[in-house]
Amino acid sequence: MAEVIRVQNVSSFSKNDIPAEFIRSETEQPGITTVKGVNLQVPVIDFSNPDEEAVIEQVVEASRHWGMYQIVNHGIPSHVIANLQAVGKTFFELPQQEKELVSKIPGSVEGYGTLLQKEVEGKKGWVDHLFHKVWPTSAINHRFWPKNPSSYREANEEYVKYLHGVIDKLFKSIGKGIGLEGHEVREAVGGDKLEYLLKINYYPPCPRPDLALGVPAHTDMSALTLLVPNEVQGLQAFRDGHWYDVKYIPNALVVHIGDQVEILSNGKYKAVLHRTTVCDQTRMSWPVFLEPPKDHIVGPHPKLIDDQNPPNFKTKTYGDYAYCKLNKIPQ
Ligand code: SIN
Ligand code: FE2
Repeated sequence: MAEVIRVQNVSSFSKNDIPAEFIRSETEQPGITTVKGVNLQVPVIDFSNPDEEAVIEQVVEASRHWGMYQIVNHGIPSHVIANLQAVGKTFFELPQQEKELVSKIPGSVEGYGTLLQKEVEGKKGWVDHLFHKVWPTSAINHRFWPKNPSSYREANEEYVKYLHGVIDKLFKSIGKGIGLEGHEVREAVGGDKLEYLLKINYYPPCPRPDLALGVPAHTDMSALTLLVPNEVQGLQAFRDGHWYDVKYIPNALVVHIGDQVEILSNGKYKAVLHRTTVCDQTRMSWPVFLEPPKDHIVGPHPKLIDDQNPPNFKTKTYGDYAYCKLNKIPQ
């Protein structure tokens, strides 16, 4: 097999400079386009607050006006997150050959690899990744789950077990804010077939963090994304026309409103535009994308549409939506 170049290899031989394909245009370079010295305080929501109505209201407000927030005291024990992160880190630190055992195969989203999207002006992101589904069990293909370290599977399953509760609470709150029940929101994005797709982003050290980006600006095509980063700063959000670093809060769960919640709410909720920067340390993040199955129909929820409220988005299968998004075809 021809040797595949991963960003991790590029990083290991890039001491002062980076290859041209990683150098962003001036409109994207973080050194030019980031508001310096400011940490954006996205809403922080405490899920242990006994005032449930207050929590619901905070989720609704944050989903409407920010599209990104951080949940603290979410009920996922810190050792469960630490284990998820430890096994992922161990995997990425294995020799290349061993990582390639779970590399992508043509036509599959899942697996270890380097580039997902066609990027702006053919540029590359300073990041490698691993994708695999973690829920429902019927959608899981263990072929793409690393066997090394041996505790990889258990650590991932344990994390997912705790995610369900947080997800239910989010759907319930999001529903309330637009006059739907929590189960109606879940049904609208796939019900029992809603897929949880885990991605591990591995951003190796970069000698020119002013010129490169990890993941370029995008909104997530999922319904919601829940992510835990490691302790290295790197997530940025676009707010009022500018890019800001989002403050890293240890153990918080970062939530992104994705395109499907924006669409089902007919635009009442907003998917957040975000990107990631890199630095002289290795950054990692573990987003879980909550996605409808490919044949599921997505569009504005019928209960939100009437003569006064025409649909602002087309209705189509999620597979079609994803195809258009990945190939930059207008929706
Ligand atoms: C992403 O949104 O694609 C990555 C987020 C992160 O690494 O924090
Ligand atoms: Fe994202």
